[in-house]
Amino acid sequence: MDSITRYAIVGTGGRHEIYRDALLGVYSKQAELTGLCDSNIGRSRLSAAWIEKHYSRKAPVYSAEHFDDMIRDTRPDVVIVTTKDSMHDYYIVRAMELGCDVITEKPMTIDAARCTSILEMQQRTGRRLRVTFNYRYSPLRTQIKHLLMNDIIGKVVSVDFHWMLDTRHGADYFRRWHRNKENSGGLLVHKATHHFDLINWWLDTTPETVYATGRRAYYTPAIGDQLGLGRRAERCHGCPEAAGCSFYLSLKDNKYLRTLYLEQEQYDKYYRDRCVFSDSIDIEDSMTLAVSYRNGAHMSYSLNAFMPWEGYMVVFNGTKGRLEHKCEGSVYINGDGSVPGSLKREGSWIRVYPHFAPAYEEFIWEASGGHGGGDKLLLQDLFAPDSTEDPYGRRADQYGGAWSILTGIAANLSIQNKMPVHTLDLVPLLTDKTGCYLK
Ligand SMILES: NC(=O)c1ccc[n+]([C@@H]2O[C@H](COP(=O)([O-])OP(=O)(O)OC[C@H]3O[C@@H](n4cnc5c(N)ncnc54)[C@H](O)[C@@H]3O)[C@@H](O)[C@H]2O)c1
Repeated sequence: MDSITRYAIVGTGGRHEIYRDALLGVYSKQAELTGLCDSNIGRSRLSAAWIEKHYSRKAPVYSAEHFDDMIRDTRPDVVIVTTKDSMHDYYIVRAMELGCDVITEKPMTIDAARCTSILEMQQRTGRRLRVTFNYRYSPLRTQIKHLLMNDIIGKVVSVDFHWMLDTRHGADYFRRWHRNKENSGGLLVHKATHHFDLINWWLDTTPETVYATGRRAYYTPAIGDQLGLGRRAERCHGCPEAAGCSFYLSLKDNKYLRTLYLEQEQYDKYYRDRCVFSDSIDIEDSMTLAVSYRNGAHMSYSLNAFMPWEGYMVVFNGTKGRLEHKCEGSVYINGDGSVPGSLKREGSWIRVYPHFAPAYEEFIWEASGGHGGGDKLLLQDLFAPDSTEDPYGRRADQYGGAWSILTGIAANLSIQNKMPVHTLDLVPLLTDKTGCYLK
């Protein structure tokens, strides 16, 4: 008989569902879900009711202050952390201290001090930590890794990487907890952790020095006024400008958003539909970075969150040629029923320009499902114990998690102080006693 691994989940919002449903569905022979925990007991109960209805199982629910009780009572082997970003460190550290391994959503955490405490606890307890970089698993991004690993353009000297979030998906970060740095670290941590991780992984290197500029240029009261939305309220629900606002999000008319968020507001006043032009937002929506890497490569990067299309362009300049890749994604709002981050095939390509030879286009690797097909493959790699092969090095631990956030954490400091920032000054624990980088 297969051995069973026991999992508990903390954070029962939108994202926990893919883990819950994988554990109770496809991987139910290998896995057991022991308990659910959230600061909003209404949301945990909703998840428990779903489990009962769809899987005929009972899952005990615990409020956040009873997290330790959940671990003691239900004895999970692994805790899956899917809370808001600023609470990841608390649950990662506590779970390891209580003897559990951890799987955490990105970003591993949001600042250098929290990153250090995670590394310290991991080193002290020896527990295993996985950071779930689903982008690494999407076939298209794996294909880029495959091409670079196979030396198709030689040694990569520089990268131009530009990411566009459109006015649907991008705006959504300005509606809820992500809109404040104390919760998310801003988009350079919350969102760009994916992008910086891809670069670290594609180039098999780590970031050294970061210089950044950035500001909030679009999701501002001034733009709200310019768009003629002068009577706007603090949130969409009940806003007098609803009919004329392109950013209006109706929680009450979407069953999923209504039950998961609107009907649970009574417990914690978490509003999912706050005005994107509010003055209380403190994250940037337009950012540019210059990053140098340990292997000598350097990168120019930008992220803009109010674009007419969603996706990215990345160019690698190598000693044997140049690789250009464009990826256009489908548009979505987290939780609105559409597939998040799925690939638009007609808008995506990979072109290789070798030195002294004709350019050609690569046939792009098939992908379907959430996050360019990455979610499905990630879940298989997490929960199917037989799959031990990892030829592309897609499994990320605490070091991968740390390096992926350090570019953004350094960039936040650089924006603030208008100075370049050295990543190792922020988290010295990322080198061993001999000065070697840990990764
Ligand atoms: N890898 C991806 O592509 C991807 C996609 C979406 C979300 N995420 C990540 O998943 C996590 C959850 O995002 P989401 O979209 O589900 O957000 P969400 O707002 O829907 O859910 C967050 C949950 O955390 C709970 N929470 C807040 N504070 C808490 C605390 N102190 N203790 C316990 N629970 C607490 C909230 O009540 C809520 O239920 C985030 O870290 C996000 O970055 C990753």
